[in-house]
Amino acid sequence: MRKSIVLIFFIVASIILCGNAQEQSNIKNNQTKTWWKEAIVYQLYPRSFKDSDGDGVGDLKGIISKLDYLKSLGIDAVWLNPIFSSPNDDNGYDISDYRNIMKEFGSMKDFEELLAGLHKRKIKLVLDMVLNHSSDEHEWFKQAKSSRTNPYRNYYHWWPEEKGKPTPRYSFFDVNNDAWKYEAETKSYYLHYFSQKQPDLNWENEKLRNEVYDMMKFWLDKGIDGLRMDAFQYVSKDTTWKKYPDGYEKDIIKYYGMGPNLHNYLKEMNKSVISKYNVMTVAEGAGSTLEDAHSLVDEDRHELNMAYHFEIMDIGNDPKGYKLSDLKKAFTKWDYSFANKGWLAIFLGNHDVPRMVSKYGDDSQQFRAYSSKLLTTLIMTMRGTPFYFNGDELGMSNIKFNNIDDYRDIATVNGYKTAKAKREDLKAFLDKQKFISRDNTRTPLQWDASANAGFSTGKPWIKVNPNYKTVNVATEEKNPFSELSYFKKIVALRKSQPVFVYGDYKVYDIENQDVYCFTRVDGNDKVLVILNFTKKDLSYTIDKNINTVNAKLLINNYEGMNAIDNNTVKLKAWQSLAFKIHQP
Ligand code: GLC
Repeated sequence: MRKSIVLIFFIVASIILCGNAQEQSNIKNNQTKTWWKEAIVYQLYPRSFKDSDGDGVGDLKGIISKLDYLKSLGIDAVWLNPIFSSPNDDNGYDISDYRNIMKEFGSMKDFEELLAGLHKRKIKLVLDMVLNHSSDEHEWFKQAKSSRTNPYRNYYHWWPEEKGKPTPRYSFFDVNNDAWKYEAETKSYYLHYFSQKQPDLNWENEKLRNEVYDMMKFWLDKGIDGLRMDAFQYVSKDTTWKKYPDGYEKDIIKYYGMGPNLHNYLKEMNKSVISKYNVMTVAEGAGSTLEDAHSLVDEDRHELNMAYHFEIMDIGNDPKGYKLSDLKKAFTKWDYSFANKGWLAIFLGNHDVPRMVSKYGDDSQQFRAYSSKLLTTLIMTMRGTPFYFNGDELGMSNIKFNNIDDYRDIATVNGYKTAKAKREDLKAFLDKQKFISRDNTRTPLQWDASANAGFSTGKPWIKVNPNYKTVNVATEEKNPFSELSYFKKIVALRKSQPVFVYGDYKVYDIENQDVYCFTRVDGNDKVLVILNFTKKDLSYTIDKNINTVNAKLLINNYEGMNAIDNNTVKLKAWQSLAFKIHQP
């Protein structure tokens, strides 16, 4: 009896002590440990991933046929761009039925098989919820526009003709950039921040909100693991419709983002939906300031899990290039601000921006592979949850179409019409699209060197990048030094070293325009990352406070390296290195 009391005492004491140890390691940067902080998310663009039926459009069965590929990458979660019924004015971001699968993509049965197949391989699934707007072909909108007294009328924003012209609002995709479209049937204008076929939902209406929450539960009850909420920072509108100053559209997030009721809606959504499931939540955009971002994701706010901000993406937008110190400052500013509270998504590419290697690296034949591996290194060694865009693991680059007829994206197609109407220089417009258009990143995934890169037996909905003959999965799988093999290696490295997830980040030599050097430290665990962002071979002297004696190389995007000599290392063009080092 006495023995068992002693044993119980011992067990309870050790639980308390272990708890304290856990707490202590968390006190350092106050970060509690959760699966979605440790996960590597792979963003999969279904339209361009793999076509199973030869119609030229990727589909769910296609993804199912590549589940083992996903497993081989070592990633933990897949974020699927929208797969719901849609007339595809904006590639699925215009949903006509939130509870069904887009015909071109397959059926609900396919979805269930895909989810089960992912779960079987221990990969989680994040779905893209488009909640700021629906399609104009959604039943709600069809009802709403049929009469001013229809019960669905208030699911959208209307401006009756008798009030005169609506206060101007900017539309991202409209040819005239006018966010109000006139509807003769009810003599009113409706609001569409995106295309005319994407009317904005009226979140002020509680009935609409409850329908949306029910729909979210429908998918969460199927067992999905996370939600990416598209354009969510725009849902709460200032319904007094005040006039904005001239040129406001250049600072659009300040005017459209973080509306008056956004936090109320998120708290309500959290309480009635999210808090009931163990899921990760990320909204696209995070307001205009660090404070905005914190207000969305700090744990005590009970809103979302992680901030997906645009400051880094905006740095590479100039085709003439960017300053490395600006990139470092942006990463550093955000990391330092989120060191103790809140959590960030880390990414350099997605379906809305060009290929990361063409934007931040060097997509010339000579340096494409090296610079793409270097960028992968940056993403995988930074604090935050990596969101890695499909195809980047192969080093896929911008397609750079010469002809407007090759483009499919509404942003480029309508942007061209706008430029034409304004008699702007169309050649200059097309030159810019080669760098900036979203279609650069949406070309089919390159599986092998066969016709259409093995993506489809039919005519792909968008042209395949001609470099598929060499840049493709089959070729790269065979090469231990390929971008793909490097990706798998660094994913495994990140998974094996928690310091890459939770370790504190510290930047060195921030004004240096050639090399990005930083450490990550978690207790006694310390790593050093050195990235040569130039096409020159150079010699770099590491800060003297970093002890590189006995530094152990963890990963290198070249086959060899020169030893660190007296804290100086010789770097090849676009070379990236990570070391385990000792505390000073
Ligand atoms: C988001 C999506 C983008 C889409 C837009 C409208 O920004 O990422 O692809 O066009 O919202 O839904």
